[in-house]
Amino acid sequence: MAKHSAVQPIGIFDSGIGGLTVANALVNHLPNENIIYFGDTAHMPYGDKSASAVQAYSIKIAHMLLQQHCKLIVIACYSATSVAYELVKEYVASKAIVMNVIDPMVHYIHAHHAHQRIGLIGTRQTINSNVYKKKIDKLNSNIELTSLATNLLASAIEEFGNSKVIDSLLDQYLSHPMLKNLDALILGCTHYPVVKENISRYFKNKIQVIDPSDIVAKAVKQRLEENQLLNIDNGGQQHFYVSDYTESFSAGTKMFFNGEIHLKHYPLWN
Ligand code: DGL
Repeated sequence: MAKHSAVQPIGIFDSGIGGLTVANALVNHLPNENIIYFGDTAHMPYGDKSASAVQAYSIKIAHMLLQQHCKLIVIACYSATSVAYELVKEYVASKAIVMNVIDPMVHYIHAHHAHQRIGLIGTRQTINSNVYKKKIDKLNSNIELTSLATNLLASAIEEFGNSKVIDSLLDQYLSHPMLKNLDALILGCTHYPVVKENISRYFKNKIQVIDPSDIVAKAVKQRLEENQLLNIDNGGQQHFYVSDYTESFSAGTKMFFNGEIHLKHYPLWN
């Protein structure tokens, strides 16, 4: 690993503003870290794009974050993690640590939910990649994973927030036979933590609904500690960029991040 210093920023990227749920958890767990967030609003949603398109976008974003001297890059998007994590890791090589939002979750359920029936919901990209199952099977924890693409959910959350429209969409999706008799459900998409309560309510609070954001943030902290890269000085600067700026993105940030955000346009694709 190239020599890094603790004051260098953490880079975090997503297809849009939903990844702010992960950024929010990172800021809570690591308030001293300098953070650069990049949302590829020009290309969202990634959930419906081809794998090769998402891979190309992800490499270019990782390149930009390396130019900003990031010591660690978090792929906050589940769709991008599913199809581009290995490529990004290879591209970045020793220039920074690369982490994603799926591996910490897989280790968590291996540790806490062995021998159980676990549900997973996410975009079509994430579910079709089968990446959770491949990773879980490697750990031999006898977890029965059952997954369902809840494709419209992310854009509906962005449009309607936490509302009655979402409850009826959830009724449609969550009543699917694939999601019967679960012990726990993994929220495999940046947007779903916003409606975690609605999902728990649908299951009458009888199963654990797992928002990976905190689990990811703790894993990032641990990785920084292991590499003596935790920023203990007074950093804490945060910059939020999007590849296409509109007022509605700016207004939408409130749903995903606690606190004021000043979104800036970063014309990566011009
Ligand atoms: N950020 C995406 C994810 O977590 C959801 C939105 C999209 O499809 O781009 O999969």
